[in-house]
Amino acid sequence: MKILITGGAGFIGSHVVRLFVNTYKDYHIYNLDSLTYAGNLENLKDIEHASNYTFIKGDITDESFINNIFKTHCFDSVIHLAAESHVDRSIADPLAFVKTNVIGTMILLNAFKDCWHSNFDNKLFYHVSTDEVYGSLGEQGLFTETTSYDPNSPYSASKASSDHFVRAYGETYSVPYVITNCSNNYGQNQFPEKLIPLFINNILKGKELPVYGDGNYTRDWLYVVDHAKAIDLVFHKGKISETYNIGGFNEWKNIDLVKLLCKLMDKKLGNPHGSSIGLIAYVKDRPGHDLRYAIDANKIKNELGWQPSVTFEEGLSNTIDWYLDNTEWLNRVTSGEYQLYYQKQYN
Ligand code: NAD
Ligand code: DAU
Repeated sequence: MKILITGGAGFIGSHVVRLFVNTYKDYHIYNLDSLTYAGNLENLKDIEHASNYTFIKGDITDESFINNIFKTHCFDSVIHLAAESHVDRSIADPLAFVKTNVIGTMILLNAFKDCWHSNFDNKLFYHVSTDEVYGSLGEQGLFTETTSYDPNSPYSASKASSDHFVRAYGETYSVPYVITNCSNNYGQNQFPEKLIPLFINNILKGKELPVYGDGNYTRDWLYVVDHAKAIDLVFHKGKISETYNIGGFNEWKNIDLVKLLCKLMDKKLGNPHGSSIGLIAYVKDRPGHDLRYAIDANKIKNELGWQPSVTFEEGLSNTIDWYLDNTEWLNRVTSGEYQLYYQKQYN
């Protein structure tokens, strides 16, 4: 089986590529990534020479390029993760999100459809999506697979739109698809623009920890390795045309999470108790900031037998250890463009 994984040099994509390359020796995994600021082939050093792995540098918005690689390889399945993924960047430059997340997904869908001429036996288009498409919850309730879409940021609107196109291709052209909507991931190799790695990096550098608004926003957190395992399970056992929510059963208010992170960092760095908490600074809020995301992941749990394998404390501790052991990685990705981004976003 030839599987195209898009965005495989990014955070979640690299964990999915690694899992598939190491587990399924009889599949060939093609990793297509344009290597934006968020893509990094260092994330896949350990498997780059595997005989069942090929990296293809390319942009999903380049229609003729995408059509050509489908003509050459006729992929049996696509696991589509390539995206612009950061909410703050979508507020600064929404069009970039429409181009990659909406148009790029359409180009992939067309290429997949045209390649198989409606002979879709044992074929699959898997769209990796987000819980943000459902909008914001109040203090109570959970997102289920039937919650109406109500996106609030340009990022979530672009992901909602791409979900709709995937479903429309299923209905209109019988393209076999599954969609998963997952909550906030954390773990090794996450680009330090997202809350947890940004704060780890800032603690290491003795910089302010910019908590948006009052810090009382709530997210559900899942260890990235558990997300990759869920994707593997849905890819092999999920029902065609279905959506599955994926979450960690693990809600945290931002400020509580940041305080826990500070405590763990102080312990691991041997700093006096309470030193990192002193770096917390309440800053201007994110426009359109969603108050709370919380996932009901019981469908994937009950139907496919998936559940998170690590506790948040274990996952967070592993994550911090990885960043402490990989300061060169962290320093490389936070030089250059990152400095400009940081200035614009936080100063
Ligand atoms: P990421 O930003 O770390 O990685 C995205 C990858 O896509 C990068 O390697 C980048 O180079 C590549 N890419 C971007 N534009 C491209 C283009 N035009 N052509 C080819 N490649 C391109 O993102 P992530 O956090 O790993 O998220 C991966 C997917 O999972 C996204 O679709 C995102 O919406 C979804 N998701 C993320 C989370 C999360 O918490 N990070 C949660 C739920 C769903
Ligand atoms: O829910 C899934 C989504 O989770 C994914 O689809 C997105 O790709 C991913 O980026 C993430 O979105 P969030 O906006 O929730 O993640 P982020 O890490 O940017 O922010 C988490 C929370 O922390 C959010 O309430 C905003 C807050 N925050 C974030 C940053 C970067 C701060 O208070 N300060 C910050 O500097």
